[in-house]
Amino acid sequence: MCAMTRADHLTFLRRAIRRPDLLATPFVTGPRLARDIAQVIPQGSSSTVVELGAGTGAMSDPIRARLGPGSRHLAVELDPDLVAHLRRTRPWLELVRGDAREFTRLLDEAGIGTVDVVISSLPWALFPAVQRRALLRDIAARLAPDGAFSMITTWMALPSRVGDLRGALGEVFDEVVETATVWLNPPPARLFVCRRPLVRTDGAGTSNNLDE
Ligand SMILES: C[S@@+](CC[C@H](N)C(=O)[O-])C[C@H]1O[C@@H](n2cnc3c(N)ncnc32)[C@H](O)[C@@H]1O
Repeated sequence: MCAMTRADHLTFLRRAIRRPDLLATPFVTGPRLARDIAQVIPQGSSSTVVELGAGTGAMSDPIRARLGPGSRHLAVELDPDLVAHLRRTRPWLELVRGDAREFTRLLDEAGIGTVDVVISSLPWALFPAVQRRALLRDIAARLAPDGAFSMITTWMALPSRVGDLRGALGEVFDEVVETATVWLNPPPARLFVCRRPLVRTDGAGTSNNLDE
């Protein structure tokens, strides 16, 4: 696994100063949390993984380290400077510049149907609640029945927003597990790991009868 470089950290910091609304923190995810979030991928498996909010690659590297032959790893990033940085430093990464909230269209354009794992470090708390719920539903709808969705939430997010997020996750996943806080991560953060999606687009799965 390649370690994060000084250029990765500085590029991220520069963009965080310019676009706090996108990056939400001046710090890249620390190695411990990045490794933990990638562990949702079975080691050496042939999996299709979608990474939302790739930044300067803090999670892209540990994700890559877990993937076996025949896997696909699609990274989505909105900020053009971060996209350029990733293209330069991680040419192996399949990367699209786009808005993760257009999840279904991005996957359709990439020719991806079902996804095994979705990993996110998006600044969820900054999205309006209605967009949060729509995106979570779209993610759950594209996950394989035995797939997983793992996301970071930091202690910078307002407790009321985290509460809302917890509720929204519970609406579209049968299992939502909250991990212990990694206090040494800048900023302290924990994961929500979600399994058994309750909504499917192909009609094969269970439905929780969410209103359209
Ligand atoms: C908190 S940073 C995490 C970056 C990196 N994954 C890490 O762990 O260090 C959030 C990332 O999500 C990106 N982002 C924010 N909103 C986005 C959106 N709607 N679609 C795609 N990427 C977005 C930001 O540009 C930023 O790179």
